[in-house]
Parts: sequence; structure tokens; C-alpha cells
Amino acid sequence: MNLTELNKVAEAMVAPGRGILAADESGGTIKKRFDALGVESTADTRRDYREMLFRSADGMAKYISGVILYDETIRQNAKDGTPLVKLIEKSGALPGIKVDKGTKPLPACPGEVVTEGLDGLRERLVDYRALGAKFAKWRAVIDIDQQPGLPSYSCIRANAHALARYAALCQDEGIVPIVEPEVLMDGAHDIDRCSEVTTWVLKETFQELFYNRVALEGMVLKPNMVVPGKKSPKQVSVEEVAEKTLRVLKACVPAAVPGIAFLSGGQSDEDATAHLDAINKMSPLPWRVTFSYGRALQHAPQKTWSGRAENVAAAQRAFSHRAMMNSLATAGQWQADLERKAA
Ligand code: 13P
Repeated sequence: MNLTELNKVAEAMVAPGRGILAADESGGTIKKRFDALGVESTADTRRDYREMLFRSADGMAKYISGVILYDETIRQNAKDGTPLVKLIEKSGALPGIKVDKGTKPLPACPGEVVTEGLDGLRERLVDYRALGAKFAKWRAVIDIDQQPGLPSYSCIRANAHALARYAALCQDEGIVPIVEPEVLMDGAHDIDRCSEVTTWVLKETFQELFYNRVALEGMVLKPNMVVPGKKSPKQVSVEEVAEKTLRVLKACVPAAVPGIAFLSGGQSDEDATAHLDAINKMSPLPWRVTFSYGRALQHAPQKTWSGRAENVAAAQRAFSHRAMMNSLATAGQWQADLERKAA
């Protein structure tokens, strides 16, 4: 493992003013998104959509440090034959790849899942590296109070162990791992319950990273923010989310980690930006704190695009706008009226 190289890539992924575009929706997920727009999901429409994003000159070149791709996309060419990976590199961003194989029910733990994909992972990493991937992503999913008392320790431990095995393999193959233990915001739990579970998950994850000899300087953490469940009657202020998220992260994430890139997890576009901004307003922080959003970067351009070539330019503007708003939030310089002005 060349830790200097890994660290250089990890630092570039969280470079000031930039964040990561998570465009790694699986075939099933992207179909769901396209269905909502009335667009048929085919290899060509998926290509057209993602090519539109990657050719958003302004958004990509100024605000995006890296793009997480799905297996199909890393092998696809743009309409003019240019590999999509080359488009991303040309914009100055790093190509990355989702390498987990999704979740499966965890035996003897009703209602809980474990992320699979360790079998054959080393070989897949070698393949992806040859295709241009500089970093990878693995997402673990922890649900709160899906049934009373969940998550179980069995679920947290199994997922933390798999994340750490994945991260160690990535580093061994010269690829920076994004370690993503996502505590879902589904359900009616309050923010303190989210705080408690997120703390437990992060503690366990860093313990397993240690046991698996993962070099913290060569990884990026992608956590959830500490928020109330979507159905919780007790919704809270932006400041409370920022404060409680930071308290948990400071207690659990060593300063050796170069950066934290949040997932958006079902927050509205503007909430995801406002929370990131409020967190960065509480600087100085021990790590760089940025975004690795899927939905919160893509909602607006997806809707604007709606599968029509004549909407491409407007969709690219919508994408660049969201990327710029989140870029400002990484410096704690976002303001709500910037959204109104643009609208
Ligand atoms: P969201 O920002 O839509 O949660 O997606 C981020 C991601 O990569 C989930 O694995």
C-alpha cells in the first residue's frame, strides 16, 4: 500500500469548495427515478442522463471533486464514443466506483440487512482500477426501530466488519475507500435516538477499521447527519442538527481521517445544503467536511431533464446551481436567499 498516494487522492476528494457526486444508482434505483419522470430506463437513456451531468461544464469543473459510478456506467461511452470516465477526468474530477453488491437479510435478525460483496472483491478492484477508478464506495444500512429495539449489535457488528474488510482490500489495491455506514432517517424516532445509534455505529466501524489495519489517512468517511426520523413529530432546527451531528462526529471520528463527505439520505435539497452549511459555520473542524450527495444533487436536474434532449442545457444549469450551493455550504457561506434569487 502506498499511503502517500492514497492520502493524496483522499485529500483531493475533499478539496476545499468541492464535493462528490453520487451517480451510482443501481439498475433498480435509477429505474425508480426514471419511472417517476415517465422515462424508460434503457442503457441509452441512462447513458444520456449521466452524460448530461458529466458534461455540465460549470458544475463539474468548479464544484465536483469526484463522481461515484455504477458498474454499467464506468464501462459506457458518451454518444460521441468518448468513455464517460474520460469526460469526468477532463472536468478535473476523479472517477470512483460503487463496489458493494447491495443488502441481503441478515440471518436470525428479522428486519435487518447486511451489505454483501466481499467475495471476488479484490479481482473487481483490479478491473475497476484499470478502467480508471481512483476510489470506491461501500454502503452499509442500519435501520432504527424498524421493530422496537433495533438495530441489534449483530447487525451493527456484521456491517462494520464488512465495511472494514472492504476498506482494507481497497487500500491494498491502491484505491481509496469511501466508508459509508448509513443510519436511515426512515421512521418516527427523534434526533436523540439517531444520535445514540449513529454513535454506536461509528464507534464500531472505527474499531473494525483498526482491527483490519485500515490507514485512516487513506479513506473518506460518508456518514448520515444526525436528524430526526422523517415521521418524527419532533422536527428540529438547522442549528440543532449541526450541533448534534458535530458532537457525534467529534466523539467518534479520529482527526487522522482527511475528510467527511455526507450522504443526503432523503433530506430535501435545501435541507441538505442548509445542514452542511451550518456544520461548516461551526469551524474550525478537525477534518474537511463536504457532500457526497445523490438525491440532493440530482432531484432538480433530473426533473428538468425529464428524458428530453431539448432540456439538457436547463438541466445542466439546475445541476450546476445545486453543486454551487453545496460548494458554498462547504465553506459555511451559503444563504437561503441565494436559492430564491436563482429561482
Ligand atoms: P443520497 O445522497 O441520495 O443519500 O445518496 C448518497 C449515496 O451514495 C447513497 O449510497
